[in-house]
Amino acid sequence: MKYDIKVTRTNNSRVSDVDFDNIPFGRLFSDHMFVSEYVGGQWINPRIEPFAPFLIHPGSMGLHYGQSIFEGMKASLSQDGDPMLFRPEMHGRRLNVSAARMCMPAFPEDLFLEALHMLVGMDRTWIPPKEGSALYIRPFMFANDEFIGVKTSQTYKFIIITGPVGPYYPRPVSLLAETKYIRAARGGVGDAKAAGNYGGAMLPAKLAQDKGYDQVLWLDGREFKYVQEVGTMNIFFVIDGKVITPSTDEGTILKGITRDSFIKLLPELGYKVEERPLSIEEVVDAYHSGVLQECFGAGTAAVVAHVDKIAYKDLIMELPPMEARKVGEMAKSYINALRAGKIEDKWGWIVPVKTEALVG
Ligand SMILES: Cc1ncc(COP(=O)(O)O)c(C=O)c1O
Repeated sequence: MKYDIKVTRTNNSRVSDVDFDNIPFGRLFSDHMFVSEYVGGQWINPRIEPFAPFLIHPGSMGLHYGQSIFEGMKASLSQDGDPMLFRPEMHGRRLNVSAARMCMPAFPEDLFLEALHMLVGMDRTWIPPKEGSALYIRPFMFANDEFIGVKTSQTYKFIIITGPVGPYYPRPVSLLAETKYIRAARGGVGDAKAAGNYGGAMLPAKLAQDKGYDQVLWLDGREFKYVQEVGTMNIFFVIDGKVITPSTDEGTILKGITRDSFIKLLPELGYKVEERPLSIEEVVDAYHSGVLQECFGAGTAAVVAHVDKIAYKDLIMELPPMEARKVGEMAKSYINALRAGKIEDKWGWIVPVKTEALVG
């Protein structure tokens, strides 16, 4: 290992209290966390310490001015019980895309990877064994100058916490295509995983839920014409046998790692994927012509969430039933089998946790 990451182990592991057959999403945290501070133009004091709350100054800029970014990724167990990460280098790169857009310092990608290997290696008994379960990993960074006034912070904190998550068997979701609020606009921060993007989405999501829909289907910020993404997922449609997902080149859509994986793997399974602007009118026309076959969200948490209904203005589009949801189901099973080490990993997406990190 290249970096000197100081390790302080807990004397009091909580892992034996966990019921791995019954894990609530997002509420359990494993024994350790990685922490480093950015001071004087460099990241210092990288360390792994027992998971614990920490003090924060009430004037800490990250609480006030939104320089706050995060990542979401998973570690799983191979069939032999070895811990594995899924495309960790892509998450490190995307963290730094978000950092650059929010005028925050890059976190060295090799240190990011080393920290992940060590932390997941140390807390490997927290990885749930069932296929589809995982250790969810949450790296995040926030501005930490103690200062009231809008400027770029000079100090930051970078932390990685983890926690087990159960197999995600989401029921199909219903979507409301949003025609009043927007998530992102050209030139904005839509392709950064910035905390404020999620804060801004909460009111429209609540209003959609009040109308009986699970999530908002975001349309573009200029014309409310082109489909963008959903909550914490990118969106895929199957129209007349073709798989279509909105292109991300306007910078208004988060470049999902699940999305990228599907774009690479679906052609191997016999489906060409078109990445292009997709208008909501094209979806409506496909629905009326009987060729809207599937719609699903793609993201780390669920891998795939099928969509059973999309509302757009006065039209409610009911999608074909479960038996017809072939493409999304196939993509999901493939990723889960890959994560469980059951099929050959021809892309090198599965990264075994380094053996040096497994001692102790
Ligand atoms: C806004 C948004 N879009 C898409 C995604 C899917 O990205 P990924 O597949 O990397 O989880 C996420 C989740 O990170 C997200 O928050």
